[in-house]
Amino acid sequence: MSDPLLSVQDLSVEFRTRSGTVHALDRVGFEIRAGEMLGIVGESGSGKSVTAYSLLGLLDRAARVTSGRTDFGGRDLLRLGQGALNDLRGREISIVFQNPRTALNPIRSVGQQIGDVLARHDPAPAGAIRTKVLAALRQVRIPDPERRLGAYPHELSGGMCQRIGIAMALACSPLLLLADEPTTGLDVTTQAVVLDLFRDAIREQGASAVLITHDLALASEYCDRLVVMHAGQVVEDAPVTELFARPRHPYTAKLLSSVPSSVASIDELRPIEGSLPDLRRADLPFCRFAERCGRRTAACDAAPLAATTLAPDHHVACHHPL
Ligand SMILES: Nc1ncnc2c1ncn2[C@@H]1O[C@H](COP(=O)(O)OP(=O)(O)OP(=O)(O)O)[C@@H](O)[C@H]1O
Ligand code: SF4
Ligand SMILES: [Mg+2]
Repeated sequence: MSDPLLSVQDLSVEFRTRSGTVHALDRVGFEIRAGEMLGIVGESGSGKSVTAYSLLGLLDRAARVTSGRTDFGGRDLLRLGQGALNDLRGREISIVFQNPRTALNPIRSVGQQIGDVLARHDPAPAGAIRTKVLAALRQVRIPDPERRLGAYPHELSGGMCQRIGIAMALACSPLLLLADEPTTGLDVTTQAVVLDLFRDAIREQGASAVLITHDLALASEYCDRLVVMHAGQVVEDAPVTELFARPRHPYTAKLLSSVPSSVASIDELRPIEGSLPDLRRADLPFCRFAERCGRRTAACDAAPLAATTLAPDHHVACHHPL
């Protein structure tokens, strides 16, 4: 097992809203290893995006990180200033957003936008940048890249726009890519094409990636390990094959048992009884799955949960794992 590239511990995030404080993340922890593709899965509202955005300082002003520490090459991302984070973003860790069209600037050509990312981190003569932009477009298999350099986002299909998003994210050869639902909204064939090239590009660069997705089939196909989130808590993490063969947290088991063989989005699955608790509640139980769980005992309500190691690579946050 290689050393973690990034470890996240005890990450809690709140949002102050007019209708109360949203306790969005509760002591989230996980590791990303060098060269791996880690999946983060969970229902809508479970905290997947907030987790990714916290790491890059992209949370909005209503958010407050109330606890947590990270280790990324000896640095704590949660304690870096905006200047250091701006410098790190794109060069060491980059992010691919869900909607490629809105993530791209509509009034700059795709070549200019990839060039902007390169120039920001590594100023070079225009000719050298152009060569690198062409290489970035080839890496994501954009046909006829010389011609596409001058194209604007509205002239390209959704799949092509997402390839540009990936090219921008990879342009400075980061160590880690965070991809937040990168293929939502694309048709199934295009999804597979985009994720195949995402995986190939990461392998070529020796980078690691976090794939945030609702789609368990995609997660199982592309990821090495999965982190399962429920209502702002990490409930289980394990290698994909182990998690599918023997889920140990009651929520993971329910999630997987509701998956037909041709899986779709988690939110479209046969619903799991009960809904996510309202994260504005002041009386949230220590285990946020308790109100949906048939195995709940007094022990579950007595104290905050800590993740238990079931195998070197398999952790679960539950008093009564399966
Ligand atoms: N700006 C915000 N203000 C208030 N609450 C927020 C804000 N952003 C996120 N939240 C809350 O934080 C929780 C986690 O949200 P998050 O967007 O991380 O979920 P998610 O797992 O990414 O869901 P989805 O699958 O729908 O993208 C939710 O309860 C959400 O309502
Ligand atoms: S800690 Fe208790 S309530 Fe929570 S999932 Fe485990 S058994 Fe259920
Ligand atoms: Mg999200």
